[in-house]
Amino acid sequence: MLEVRGLSVRYGPLLALDDASLEVLPGRICGLVGANGSGKSTLFNAVMGLVAPEAGTIIIDGTPGAIARRRGVVGYVPQEDAVDRDFPISVGEVVTTGRYGHMGPLRRPSRADRQAVEAAMERTGIDGLSRRQIGELSGGQRKRVFVARAIAQGARLLLLDEPFAGVDRVSEAAIVGLLRELAAEGCAVLVSTHDLGSLRELADDAVLLAGRVLAAGPIEQVLTPQAIAHAFGAEAAAGEGMLR
Ligand SMILES: Nc1ncnc2c1ncn2[C@@H]1O[C@H](COP(=O)(O)OP(=O)(O)OP(=O)(O)O)[C@@H](O)[C@H]1O
Ligand SMILES: [Mg+2]
Repeated sequence: MLEVRGLSVRYGPLLALDDASLEVLPGRICGLVGANGSGKSTLFNAVMGLVAPEAGTIIIDGTPGAIARRRGVVGYVPQEDAVDRDFPISVGEVVTTGRYGHMGPLRRPSRADRQAVEAAMERTGIDGLSRRQIGELSGGQRKRVFVARAIAQGARLLLLDEPFAGVDRVSEAAIVGLLRELAAEGCAVLVSTHDLGSLRELADDAVLLAGRVLAAGPIEQVLTPQAIAHAFGAEAAAGEGMLR
């Protein structure tokens, strides 16, 4: 569903991603794992077309990334919310933006659009929050709003950048359960985290990142003590699961 080949991204003199290649398959959850500054958000930004790569290709659902994004194939839950906290927009309106690709130029929601929005909000447990302003929500609630937007959109590739940061265990379990359901329905999910502790419960595959891809494949093959030591340092490898 997502195929990244030879991706390099540069910020001025800094090469944030160096020749990265990875694949995310339908029906599977892939953990994008790496220390702070290892290039996880940069990879998401490149897949979303928010930064221009220096080299490489991004193929989504068999077509160039830009086309797939326009078709609404890609749902994105950003690390820092892309929506300005002070911007006056309600939860229901944010989730409805996921339907824009399905609407005409006037963006008037049809009955089907409204039903998709309602169903997505129920599924993510935010149906009581529809009229609340996005800036009034807690961090965990906001994550659910963006997951709901991706569901309403009918995205088949889901990108989640640190969805569990600052989220309590109940919310985390709810999001993990939801991602597993979406994968079972055939979605491909790429989720970044620096929390190795809960990764094995979540992901089928993993990509270990440190500016470049250190390892990629089924999770048990990727998360070896040696590879973790390489990505996070020896201490992390010794006390795996202690990271937060
Ligand atoms: N807009 C930018 N301009 C310049 N440098 C940047 C920019 N965004 C990121 N970087 C740098 O690129 C590198 C990769 O950053 P990135 O945000 O992708 O890391 P990350 O793995 O997402 O980290 P974290 O776990 O802290 O979210 C870092 O060294 C960072 O300082
Ligand atoms: Mg990041």
